[in-house]
Amino acid sequence: MCLTPPAGFLQSVLVNTTEAASVAEPTHSARIVAVANQKGGVGKSTTTINLGASLAFQGERVLLVDLDPQGNTSSGLGIDRSTIELSTYEVLVDDVGIDDAIEPTSVRDLFIVPATIELAGAEIELVSMFSRETRLGSALKAVADDYSFVLIDCPPSLGLLTVNGLAAAHEVMIPIQCEYYALEGVSQLMRNIQLVQHNLNPQLEVEGVILTMFDGRTTLSADVVAQVREHFGDTTYRTVIPRTVRLSEAPSYGEPIEAFDPMSRGAIAYRELAREFRRRHGRA
Ligand SMILES: Nc1ncnc2c1ncn2[C@@H]1O[C@H](COP(=O)(O)OP(=O)(O)O)[C@@H](O)[C@H]1O
Ligand SMILES: [Mg+2]
Repeated sequence: MCLTPPAGFLQSVLVNTTEAASVAEPTHSARIVAVANQKGGVGKSTTTINLGASLAFQGERVLLVDLDPQGNTSSGLGIDRSTIELSTYEVLVDDVGIDDAIEPTSVRDLFIVPATIELAGAEIELVSMFSRETRLGSALKAVADDYSFVLIDCPPSLGLLTVNGLAAAHEVMIPIQCEYYALEGVSQLMRNIQLVQHNLNPQLEVEGVILTMFDGRTTLSADVVAQVREHFGDTTYRTVIPRTVRLSEAPSYGEPIEAFDPMSRGAIAYRELAREFRRRHGRA
């Protein structure tokens, strides 16, 4: 199934919007961060799970919102799809209160609104709905006071689900994989972030760029790091996430790396990323 909308879809959504009055208000106590990059496989879900868990281990109360129909963040935290009754889909499409869709995880202080494949339909169903771009933001207002951070795992596309994520957020975090064509698509993502800023959410800012799957044995990885740092400057996190097998194994055990193998390089990296993230937010 192709979840990627045709080129120009987002632009047409935003140009046709009539929601100028429903711009997100900065009344939340939680800092809401969308983890976004329309490229698949760059580490969005891995970063959402493991940054979220490390923040919780460091004393923050964290809510994850799985906004990807593939549900990797949900399954990676051990949520059994067959037992999910209420999910992001019902919150967005059926006006179910988000409180009723939140589930605890095996990590204390880490909670999740899970996703199922049904969410793929929301991309289309939302098109004709009232306030279609701001439904997630409105829903989150009900629980923002209960958390210090909300991390939204966006799908690998630039359709209405991602627009909902960006419209709900104060900040965007962009994972970039240390691979060939690392920056491919990033300028399109930046243009779309600007469109959301202008049309829906003027407070939105790029919080950080996080380099993932770094392989110290290749000069390619080092080249990508240099290139991204040159392009994004200090927006780039100092912490770089290494490519490690343990990080790719942890989801099949339904655990974040911090619980699965706390001494591993991946756990150390995400712990350090969480510290750096908290420092950037004046909390460490
Ligand atoms: N640092 C890493 N080292 C090794 N494998 C990783 C790492 N980060 C992610 N992966 C694996 O790469 C794949 C894509 O990562 P994922 O986080 O699902 O990307 P996205 O959410 O952007 O599609 C997954 O199989 C994941 O387990
Ligand atoms: Mg993902």
